[in-house]
Amino acid sequence: MAFPVVDTEYLKEIDKARRDLRALIAFKNCAPIMLRLAWHDAGTYDVSTKTGGPNGSIRNEEECSHGANNGLNIALGFCEEVKTNHPKITYADLYQLAGVVAVEVTGGPTIDFVPGRKDSNICPKEGRLPDAKRGAPHLRDIFYRMGLSDKDIVALSGGHTLGRAHPERSGFDGPWTSEPLKFDNSYFVELLKGESEGLLKLPTDKALLDDPEFRKYVELYSKDEDAFFRDYAESHKKLSELGFTPS
Ligand code: HEM
Repeated sequence: MAFPVVDTEYLKEIDKARRDLRALIAFKNCAPIMLRLAWHDAGTYDVSTKTGGPNGSIRNEEECSHGANNGLNIALGFCEEVKTNHPKITYADLYQLAGVVAVEVTGGPTIDFVPGRKDSNICPKEGRLPDAKRGAPHLRDIFYRMGLSDKDIVALSGGHTLGRAHPERSGFDGPWTSEPLKFDNSYFVELLKGESEGLLKLPTDKALLDDPEFRKYVELYSKDEDAFFRDYAESHKKLSELGFTPS
């Protein structure tokens, strides 16, 4: 498929889809799973082969059925409602727009969104997304493969300020913070506090405490929400544009 033509009409549709997404996310309370969908479409990027990335390929059964994507068919269904009303918009743009809106409407930073991603039906092999049971070297393997940095790893992990784990999806259970529909720096505050009754910490979350380079950012973000919001917005934009050169 060719790149969408980002003309005035396309930009107008993006604006309308943004409004529809705000309403849909408010109505269904589904910001967390929309953010997870955007991240899982983008997070398959491989900078050395320039494959994967935010290209809408996650909508195909072949990729959606990967273990890491359990439950994301719900978010795909929500996005399909918006796609029906705005068929011009590519899935690749729609999923990334949904991620940006999810962060915005839950009180997070404004993330610059540039449209024009093209859709692909080529699905990456299973195993490109991180395994929550592993540690810092694995996180670096996965995120460096995308072309991202240590700072990106920590800032983006702050996405777990939203939502929760579901036993039937990942085998893990519970939210990371006491207000899982509010985007703030509480993920980092809770991480530094240690175990709390009812709150989740994945092995990959705890790895951010044990590694000195990662820990530096955890400490900064727990003390300084502005710094977190600034870095998060920058890292999220990078994630949403992996392999994509805006025209
Ligand atoms: C949920 C792993 C990074 C956003 C989850 C879940 C796991 C997980 C196991 C639970 C899924 C479920 O049971 O429903 C990881 C690992 C990461 C990572 C190992 C490596 C650093 C990220 C990033 C973002 C993100 C970069 C976004 C910027 C989310 C959100 C949820 C979630 C919002 C909640 C979904 C819901 O409530 O339905 N993640 N994740 N994660 N993840 Fe991550």
